[in-house]
Amino acid sequence: MRASTTAPARAKADALVLAVAPGPQVLGAEALPRPLRAALSTDALTALGVTGKADEVVRVPAGEGVRAAVVVLTGTGPLQAGAAGAEQLRRATGAAVRTLAGVGSAALALPADDLAAATAVAEGALLGAYAYRAQRARTAESSKAPVASLELLTPLARDKALAAALQRAAVLADAVSSVRDLVNAPPNELYPETFAAFARDAVKGTRAKVTVLDEEALAAGGYGGILGVGQGSERPPRLVRVEHAPTRPKAHLALVGKGITFDSGGLSLKPPTGMVTMKCDMAGAAAVLAAVVAAARLDLPVRVTGWLALAENMPSGTAQRPSDVLTTYGGRTVEVLNTDAEGRLVMADALVAAGEEQPDAVVDVATLTGAQVVALGSRVSAVMGDDPLRTAVLTAAERAGEQFWPMPLPEELRASLDSPVADIANIGDRNGGMLVAGLFLREFVPAGADGERIPWAHLDIAGPAFNEHGPHGYTGKGGTGHAVRTLVALAEDLA
Ligand code: BES
Ligand code: MN
Ligand code: ZN
Repeated sequence: MRASTTAPARAKADALVLAVAPGPQVLGAEALPRPLRAALSTDALTALGVTGKADEVVRVPAGEGVRAAVVVLTGTGPLQAGAAGAEQLRRATGAAVRTLAGVGSAALALPADDLAAATAVAEGALLGAYAYRAQRARTAESSKAPVASLELLTPLARDKALAAALQRAAVLADAVSSVRDLVNAPPNELYPETFAAFARDAVKGTRAKVTVLDEEALAAGGYGGILGVGQGSERPPRLVRVEHAPTRPKAHLALVGKGITFDSGGLSLKPPTGMVTMKCDMAGAAAVLAAVVAAARLDLPVRVTGWLALAENMPSGTAQRPSDVLTTYGGRTVEVLNTDAEGRLVMADALVAAGEEQPDAVVDVATLTGAQVVALGSRVSAVMGDDPLRTAVLTAAERAGEQFWPMPLPEELRASLDSPVADIANIGDRNGGMLVAGLFLREFVPAGADGERIPWAHLDIAGPAFNEHGPHGYTGKGGTGHAVRTLVALAEDLA
C-alpha cells in the first residue's frame, strides 16, 4: 500500500473511496472540489438513498474535476471514539474495497488525519482485498480479483510512524489471508500431512522454526489424544511445533491450536447439515501458525511457540469407539464417550506438550463447541481461563478490532466430566457445553515452577472462524481469519 498527500480529486485511481456518516454527510468533504461537494450534499445523498449506516456501499460517477471515474461511498455508522471508532473505519474501508473486487485501483480518502485512523483505513483496505484464489472459481462473479493497487491519502504520508504502521498492517493482512486460505482449502487437499508441509513453507524467509511429529513419533511419544482422533482416517495425524525465538525475549508465550482438518464427528457421526462447514475445524491451528509467522516477521521481542494439533476425524473400521479409553500425552486417561468431542482430545496432548517448556502463558484457540455459537452468535468469540491473562486477551482483541467476550468456568460443572473408568470423560453436562469443554482443557494445562497452573486462556472461536452468511465489513464469506490479529496484539502487549 502506498501513502501520499495527494488531494482526493487528483488521486490517480479507478475509484475514490469516501466515508459517509449518518446525517448523512461525507467525512472530509472540505477537501473535495466544489462540484463534487455539492453533488454529495446531505440532500443529494438522501435522494440517492445513502444513509451512512455500516455496510452500506454505493458507487456514483465522480463527475468532472476528479481524476477517478467513480466515487465509492461507504457507511461508517455513528462514529465512536477510540478503538471502536477505528474498527468502524476498518470495516467501512474493508466493505468498500471488498465491493470493488474486479476494479484495478482505489484511492482511499476516508478520515486519516491521525495515526490511529490512517492505520485503521490501511488495515481495513488490506483485509477487504482478499479472494480465495487457489481454486480459480468457475463463475465470473467469484473469480474477480481483489483491488491490486491501493493508495492511502493522508497528511501523514511522510511520517515514519505511518510507514511502520503500514508495514505492520501488511504483515497482519498476510497473516489473516493465510488463515482464510487454509480454512477455505478443501479438506481433500488440506489434511494433516499437507498442513504440516504448508507450515514448513510458511516460515521460509523468516527465522521461525518448524518441527513436525508424524504418526510414528506421536506413537513413540505417547500422544494418545491426537492418535485416537486420527486413527479413523486414512490420513495420519501430525503435531507441528513452530517457534519464533528472538535473542533476548521479554516473555515466552505458547499458543495451541485445534487443527481438525475435517470433523465428520467420527463414529458419533454428525448429521449432513452439521458437517458441511467442518473443513473450518482447523481454524485455531491456522491462526496459531499465522500468528507465530507474523511475530517472526515483525521481529517481536517475545518468544512464541505455536503447537498445531492436526488430525482428521473420520468414521471407519479403525476409528475410535465411544467408550474407548485413551492415554493422553503425559499419562492422563480419557474415556471417549462421544467421538465428536474430538477437539479437546487433540488439544489435551498439545497443551501438555506446550506446558512442558514452561512458558509464561498458554493461550489455546479452537473451534471447540457448537455451544459457543449458541451462546454468542457467529461474530463474537468466547474467552475463558485465568485472569489477568483472560483480561489481557480482551484488551488485545479490542485493540485488534476483534470481538471477544469473557465466559466463566463454573467449578460445579467439573463433576459432570467424572468417569468411572478413566481420569476424565470427554463429555459432561450438555448445558453450558462451551464451559464444560473449557473445564476439560483446564485439566491439561501443566503447572509452572511455582506449582500453580501456568496462566492459561482458552479461546472458543467456533462461530466467528467461518462466515456462513453474507459478507460484511472486511469479512467475506468462508474463512475469516478471526483470532490471529488478537494473538499478535497479545504477543506485542507481552513484549
Ligand atoms: N468442531 C465442533 C464444534 C463446532 C460446531 C465448530 C459448529 C464450528 C461450528 C466440535 O468438534 C464438536 O463437534 N463439538 C460437539 C461437542 C459435543 C459432542 C459435546 C458439539 O458442540 O456439538
Ligand atoms: Mn466434533
Ligand atoms: Zn471439531
